Amino acid sequence: MNAKWTRRRLLGTSAAVAAGTYLLDQQAAWAALTTSADEDGHELWLRYRQVDEPRLLASYRRAFTQVVKAGDGVLASAQAELVRGLSGLLGRSIGVVDAPTRSGAVVLGTPESSPIVRSHCPAAELEKLGPEGYVVRRARVGKVDVVLVASAGERGVLYGAFHLLRLLQTQRGVEKLNVAERPANPLRLANHWDNLDGSVERGYSGTSIFHWYDLPEIKPHYVEYARAMASVGINATVVNNVNANAEFLSSEMIEKLAPLADTLRAWGIKLQLSANFASPMVLDGLETADPFDPAVRTWWRDKATEIYTHIPDFGGFLVKANSEGQPGPVDYGRTHADGANLLAEALEPHGGIVIWRAFVWHGPETWADEAFETFQPLDGEFAANALVQIKNGPIDFQVREPAHPLFGALPRTNSMMELQVTQEYTGQSTHLCYAVPLWKEVYDFDTHGAGPGTTVASVVGGTAFDYGHSGVAGVMNFGSSTNWTGHHLAAANTHGFGRLAWNPQLSAEQIADEWVRSTFGSHRSLVTVLTGMLLHSREIYESYNSPLGAGFVQGGGDHLDPCVRCNEPWHQSDASGVGFDRTVATGTGTTGHYFPAVTSVFESLDTCPDELLLFFHHVPYTHRLRSGKTVIQHIYDSHFSGLENASRLRSLWQGLRRQVDPRRHREVLARFDRQVDHARQWRDTLVTYWFEKSRILDRRRSWVQAQFGPMWTVLHESSPAPMELTVGNATSGALSLAVAVDVPEGWTSATVDVDVPSRELVPVSVPVQPGGPPGYFLVGVRMGARKDVLVDPIEVLTTPAASRCVLALDAGTAASPLHDGYRRLTPSDAWNAEVGYGWVGTAPESRDRTGNTDALLRDFVNDNAASTLRIAVPAGAHDAYLLVGDADVRSFATYVRVDGKVVAESPFLFRNDFAWLHVPLDGGASGRSVDLELSSAPNEHWHLVALALIAQKG
Ligand code: GCU
Repeated sequence: MNAKWTRRRLLGTSAAVAAGTYLLDQQAAWAALTTSADEDGHELWLRYRQVDEPRLLASYRRAFTQVVKAGDGVLASAQAELVRGLSGLLGRSIGVVDAPTRSGAVVLGTPESSPIVRSHCPAAELEKLGPEGYVVRRARVGKVDVVLVASAGERGVLYGAFHLLRLLQTQRGVEKLNVAERPANPLRLANHWDNLDGSVERGYSGTSIFHWYDLPEIKPHYVEYARAMASVGINATVVNNVNANAEFLSSEMIEKLAPLADTLRAWGIKLQLSANFASPMVLDGLETADPFDPAVRTWWRDKATEIYTHIPDFGGFLVKANSEGQPGPVDYGRTHADGANLLAEALEPHGGIVIWRAFVWHGPETWADEAFETFQPLDGEFAANALVQIKNGPIDFQVREPAHPLFGALPRTNSMMELQVTQEYTGQSTHLCYAVPLWKEVYDFDTHGAGPGTTVASVVGGTAFDYGHSGVAGVMNFGSSTNWTGHHLAAANTHGFGRLAWNPQLSAEQIADEWVRSTFGSHRSLVTVLTGMLLHSREIYESYNSPLGAGFVQGGGDHLDPCVRCNEPWHQSDASGVGFDRTVATGTGTTGHYFPAVTSVFESLDTCPDELLLFFHHVPYTHRLRSGKTVIQHIYDSHFSGLENASRLRSLWQGLRRQVDPRRHREVLARFDRQVDHARQWRDTLVTYWFEKSRILDRRRSWVQAQFGPMWTVLHESSPAPMELTVGNATSGALSLAVAVDVPEGWTSATVDVDVPSRELVPVSVPVQPGGPPGYFLVGVRMGARKDVLVDPIEVLTTPAASRCVLALDAGTAASPLHDGYRRLTPSDAWNAEVGYGWVGTAPESRDRTGNTDALLRDFVNDNAASTLRIAVPAGAHDAYLLVGDADVRSFATYVRVDGKVVAESPFLFRNDFAWLHVPLDGGASGRSVDLELSSAPNEHWHLVALALIAQKG
């Protein structure tokens, strides 16, 4: 195996340039409706390319000839979208007229806005469909045939317009138009987990689309965002993270947000905000946030009034309280209902709602139970304008978990569902994992809450119980990437979330087909192949990821890589078996939270579905599944076939190169390359783990395996490092193995011979010497020429030896320990030509994170204002490497500028995560000094942990 750069790889100049691409640069692409060879994905599913089937095109051109002027606000948006869409799809400009003059005129409006609608659509019929429902049909007006897009409300007209365009985008016949629709879910909400610093929690597509610091300036892409959301029926959006910064409710911010709310309103979208429960304390210095305190109640009432003064249709608050460190009413001995009702009371006079999240947990043992046990007893205690927002499953957006037991268990509490569109646990923007089939399973789940047939869809759609408010929220996957979602195919989830929220009865096939056609065109083989890929992708991801409902095998903070070892409390694997006993009889009793008809299914090994077996039961590895296979054989088979299927996805996509434009084809192919690599890592890590636990041989294959000791390692080039390994033999005979670490170029590894009996694991220590450029490396293992080596790899950070550097600086405080041979760089080192480095202008700050014991990593220099470090670069070509990161808290981008130009930029880093930035520097014929300007996003800190300057060879 060739050691690969990891995703935290060395970031060089070109990566920085690529990462710095912002939506703003892309406006032209959105406006242009001409077909171009290369597409950047910015138009999403609203491409409106000319219909390429000549007969269909001709029939569409006859059917739609002009658009009749509709009105202002949302009606104007509907009209503009129709003109834009029809012009693009028909390949000719569609004019706007005051009254229909030709057959094929499209008349859109409400009975109030349009006399034609008033006279041709019975008011009672429109009323029945509600203000968001619509009809699309033909009518005869005087001498001309028109197409009516009509609704009782303006939003309905907008949704009807998008429906009409969808018919053409998906190449449906339009001879007999007889559409009548209404949304199943009243509230269809986008949740953005966007922070004030521009980062996006669980965002995998760049930074926030909202440029808070530039508000009230409205960027053109806000309109594009609103169009995309409206096109799939989203009617409200929470623009900031549930881990809410109280600043979002400051007077200054509310004023700045008002124009954004205006922009969204024109597309039928209400703006909402996540509220920090302690806002009265944080913003105005109140001594408490106790919901029963009169001053607190007044504060919230005043705040609501202030918001509605600026944003008259403000939707309301979303609150994460007493969860993962967030403040809440429980801090004052009050209940969640008390907290929700405090805010509900403030919003009520203005027609706002408060959405209160049910996501509370304190550890793996009780995680599946805590939300139920906290919220079910509060049923009936929440105000009429409050809702409880419940994640789809009792854990946390896993690739497979049962429906949340709270659905159906809150007959007297408005409830809504939270789905995750951003793929936190399902491959992020690397893996294809189309979630619509997963979401449909949840919608279709029969809770039995009000008797058989009480599906989750009927609960959150508001028909099962007498709810005043209900609906669905989706944690969004949009970011600053040109194509919004990073992976082009991830936009299928954004689209699918909205379409399913509108109508959970739509099949996954229908929705996928619609997205493929609108995004890539209707070429027959493309539609068949890509739709099939989407529909199988979740199953494929699951098969190499988390077997049989085990769940939570992702590790670290980022939930992308496998960490089956660190998550043992979740899957409870030991030598005898695997799975979490959540039965009433012998386990935690989670099964008992469901209604009896459901409890009995999950409680019994005879009836529990295999795909949820390990979620509810702890079973021996030899337990037989319905397929006849044992659990361990299933784990082996599904991980091996999962990798094969990931490769198949890649080949299928490769085969579409003639049906997809070169740019999108290339970009998606690159994602599949990474998916296949990563699926291999998943397979190897999980298979080796469960072999080690079970010591049961695979009946169909054999292998040797290796696993590294510590989970995360820093290797310093100055000293050869022994890497601790465990080598295992999953073959039926004893083996002599020559074990070496599969090192990156420039490193060396010793080879150690070891004898390993069948089904045994033996510890081995292999000395390695790092070299080459510093960086993060995913390191594997070689065993001679053997091809059957499975490795649970390890990521290591390397630092160059001081002896190899022209300049080696360990940045930090004056007192903290120094890395071997490195020189100290503190804030008080002003530039000194003799010394060859130092600060020019204002000195920065420094920190020492004593929790991290590594001399190099524990301290750093930092600031939120830009600082300039000058270094002397000797004659000739050199490479500067700058180490950034923070051992204690997450860090936002550090930008390095030379001569005013950004030459390197770090990604968002989790706490205790670091990255080397690479900046080539030329000292010319006689050497020169270079100014490195270090900065970050507004109000954020840049970091410098170390700097190494190395002469290029030759
Ligand atoms: C998960 C996720 C967090 C998020 C939380 C939530 O735990 O990892 O980033 O804040 O869910 O939904 O509140």
